[in-house]
Amino acid sequence: MFKLASLAVVSIVSVLLAAAQAPSAPGKPLPPGAMQAKVKAACTQCHNASRITEQHMSRAEWSKQLEKMEGLGAVIPDADRTAILNYLTRNFGPQKGNSKAAAKKTSD
Ligand code: HEC
Repeated sequence: MFKLASLAVVSIVSVLLAAAQAPSAPGKPLPPGAMQAKVKAACTQCHNASRITEQHMSRAEWSKQLEKMEGLGAVIPDADRTAILNYLTRNFGPQKGNSKAAAKKTSD
């Protein structure tokens, strides 16, 4: 009886361990583009890219977000700031602009 119980405990524990080891919410990757590598370098040291890819923000909101991240310690080179802002706004802009982007995507 004891043996059976410990076997059950072992299998429950291994299921829990397997779940814990699963990659934590891989989410959507950053879309390819000239700024992909730079955004990856500047923005994925403290959190993964899905923190960014799950957002829908206007350019002004992204600009505020970049300032907030700089306040937290992110380093965004001045020379890249506009390009990063363009990249974020184009790929993760307000949701209502998405139908156009989606239509574009399916055409290639
Ligand atoms: C120095 C560490 C650090 C770097 C580098 C960094 N972030 Fe963050 N980011 C954070 C922290 C901490 C939070 C959680 C803030 C909170 O919960 O208020 C966060 C949260 C976010 C969020 C979720 C919205 C929010 O305000 O909570 C977005 C979007 C984001 N970061 C985008 C970026 C982008 C874009 C970059 C690159 C320019 C970047 N982050 C670089 C630390 C960082």
